[in-house]
Amino acid sequence: MLLRAVLAVAATILTTVHARVHHLFVGNLYPPPRLYALAFDDETLALEITANMTADSSHAWIAFDAGKTNVYGASLDKPAIASYEVVVNNSSSSSSTGNADDDGGAATTVTNVTLEFRKSVAAAGACANKTAAFVLPHPLFPRVYTASWPGPDACAMALSTNPDPTAPTNGSGGGGMLEAVIQTWRYDSQTNSSGGIHGLALDPAGTALYSADLQGDAVWAHIVSPDGTGRVVGLRGGTFCPRGGRGRIRGTWSCTRMSGCSGGPKYLWATARAWTGNGTIEPHTGFISVFALDGETGAIRGEQQQPLFRVPTTTLDGGANAISPAPWSEDWAAMTDIGTGYVQMWRIEKTTDEKGEVTTTTARDVARVDIPDGGCCANVIWYD
Ligand SMILES: *[C@@H]1O[C@H](CO)[C@@H](O)[C@H](O)[C@H]1NC(C)=O
Ligand SMILES: *[C@@H]1O[C@H](CO)[C@@H](O)[C@H](O)[C@H]1NC(C)=O
Ligand SMILES: *[C@@H]1O[C@H](CO)[C@@H](O)[C@H](O)[C@H]1NC(C)=O
Ligand SMILES: *[C@@H]1O[C@H](CO)[C@@H](O)[C@H](O)[C@H]1NC(C)=O
Ligand SMILES: *[C@@H]1O[C@H](CO)[C@@H](O)[C@H](O)[C@H]1NC(C)=O
Ligand SMILES: *[C@@H]1O[C@H](CO)[C@@H](O)[C@H](O)[C@H]1NC(C)=O
Ligand SMILES: *[C@@H]1O[C@H](CO)[C@@H](O)[C@H](O)[C@H]1NC(C)=O
Ligand SMILES: *[C@@H]1O[C@H](CO)[C@@H](O)[C@H](O)[C@H]1NC(C)=O
Repeated sequence: MLLRAVLAVAATILTTVHARVHHLFVGNLYPPPRLYALAFDDETLALEITANMTADSSHAWIAFDAGKTNVYGASLDKPAIASYEVVVNNSSSSSSTGNADDDGGAATTVTNVTLEFRKSVAAAGACANKTAAFVLPHPLFPRVYTASWPGPDACAMALSTNPDPTAPTNGSGGGGMLEAVIQTWRYDSQTNSSGGIHGLALDPAGTALYSADLQGDAVWAHIVSPDGTGRVVGLRGGTFCPRGGRGRIRGTWSCTRMSGCSGGPKYLWATARAWTGNGTIEPHTGFISVFALDGETGAIRGEQQQPLFRVPTTTLDGGANAISPAPWSEDWAAMTDIGTGYVQMWRIEKTTDEKGEVTTTTARDVARVDIPDGGCCANVIWYD
């Protein structure tokens, strides 16, 4: 497998106060078709599976809608996009230890967040019978985009959603249960030089859709109508990448272009996959590289844009190495891998000198849960 960089920018800004227990989901890259709910306690560092759920198919990529009330899944095993509803069950649990010094057994709320399968929409039109490695909900319009993987001859689809009027969508029209395929297109019908699409991203206005064509060595830009229909109205262009310049793209969420930001993102977390070796190239582990960002412009800081630090991840056979920065603090990220199958928590750690100046910055894995079902794990999404 090719060495690829998977880039992800922490989506939200460091908050000083955050919940202690965070909920997240992870999908399986390969069969069996399972989805797991996980809970992570950032004080005790306990990371555990809270639900083992049957999925419509294994999901190479899962994504929340803007209000985090639905999850969409793309699959390499089934030519369809699945739609799940997020179900939150708060229950009271009496935590009495009988110790007079504690809170005397006051009820604490236990939050269990699970997914319920709602619908599977078959790939159609230009994408009939084609599988996909990525799915991207539009944050403002009731549309979900996906594109074919593997290649050749890439195609994409826009699916409509049925937004729940009571769901929190931040005043936008995005989100909801999947309804139907409303538009499909091929990338390059003239020369068939397009390959397979491995990542999609929208610009902050939601009017340009970018496709990372990993097998066609290109990045494509399509124009999305600003009229709220989410309809793709044309191809803006394609750029062919030099070898090695390919990969999965995710938005670069620059803070200066987002409303409500109180400070720029500090870090860009990136990973490179491991390589098992093939006689020509030596085996090597995967890596996490963290880049320091300029809070104002979002640009990578430092001379020659070198990473702030780079640390090896643990396995040689790791083909996923997918990183998901936490939404509650830029100092944390979840990373998955396949092979052994696990989810890890990484934390940025700093050492300071006696004057309090930071001398070194690195990251360390502080928690891990193994999910050795044979198909885990693809990507993690954070609920809270
Ligand atoms: C969460 O809910 C699911 C589905 O009802 C259940 O199977 C699971 O045991 C629950 N987990 C916890 C920790 O309560
Ligand atoms: C919520 O969780 C509690 C405790 O696990 C369980 O008894 C109850 O049946 C659940 N409610 C729903 C609607 O799933
Ligand atoms: C569940 O409990 C959490 C934490 O107390 C709270 O933020 C959330 O609003 C509750 N959700 C529901 C659906 O009751
Ligand atoms: C869809 O693809 C599968 C696997 O390549 C193939 O077996 C099947 O015949 C195809 N079905 C159609 C309708 O093209
Ligand atoms: C949208 O609203 C939800 C629920 O109120 C909130 O958790 C989330 O942070 C909001 N997202 C944005 C981008 O403002
Ligand atoms: C491109 O691929 C499609 C589908 O495989 C085929 O129908 C078409 O003839 C091809 N076009 C060229 C120019 O090769
Ligand atoms: C090993 O992989 C590299 C990169 O894909 C390729 O160029 C090389 O030919 C491969 N070597 C063998 C022996 O397969
Ligand atoms: C989840 O459940 C399935 C079906 O029972 C089982 O095969 C799998 O091993 C379970 N996963 C874990 C991590 O226990």
